Amino acid sequence: MRVLGIMGSPRIEGNTDLLLDEALRGAQSQGAEVEKIIVDKLKIAPCREYYGCLQDGNCVIRDDMDGIYPKLLNADRVIVASPIFFYGLTSQIKALIDRCQALWARKYILKQDPPDSGRRGAFIAVGATGGKRLFDGSILTVKYFFQSIGVKYADELLVRGVDRKGEIREHPAELSDAFELGRRLAQV
Ligand SMILES: Cc1cc2nc3c(=O)[nH]c(=O)nc-3n(C[C@H](O)[C@H](O)[C@H](O)COP(=O)(O)O)c2cc1C
Repeated sequence: MRVLGIMGSPRIEGNTDLLLDEALRGAQSQGAEVEKIIVDKLKIAPCREYYGCLQDGNCVIRDDMDGIYPKLLNADRVIVASPIFFYGLTSQIKALIDRCQALWARKYILKQDPPDSGRRGAFIAVGATGGKRLFDGSILTVKYFFQSIGVKYADELLVRGVDRKGEIREHPAELSDAFELGRRLAQV
């Protein structure tokens, strides 16, 4: 069982990073092999709508996405983790998702089946405020992303009211919820 965690915050050891680490520890507790991608450290250009992907399902831009596509396709479980920036995902992770238009094209235009129908994914998000609709837009984005790469949206952990770097350490219940999410997700 391969679990891929996609860390969308630019803040290393920030709230998202710590929550994702707990989730990956939970997955490891089930014997899963885990990998964390720190998107901010990669060079990922935004989608330019060249639409080369409509021909053969491959993006014509050459950058670090070349290494990410196989990871996305080979993972049995995918965890997207992001802070909320202006009611959405960070631009770093949104660029990665937009570049998956190539995988969307494989599924919906070229009618190529994604790897395995049993793949599942989860979303972890953290925001500073308490707004009722704080996560709505990001949930829709992650659901559509998962659908495009053939992953079922199976779980989520949405944390409000956490702002300072590492403040999540003062929220042991949420950290333990993240561990549990990872543990559940890695179960067969
Ligand atoms: C550019 C920017 C935009 C933000 N927008 C929101 C927002 O719309 N709603 C909110 O609740 N928090 C917002 N925040 C606060 C972050 O979501 C919050 O500080 C979070 O804990 C950061 O997580 P991290 O430590 O994983 O980066 C914003 C922060 C930044 C830097």
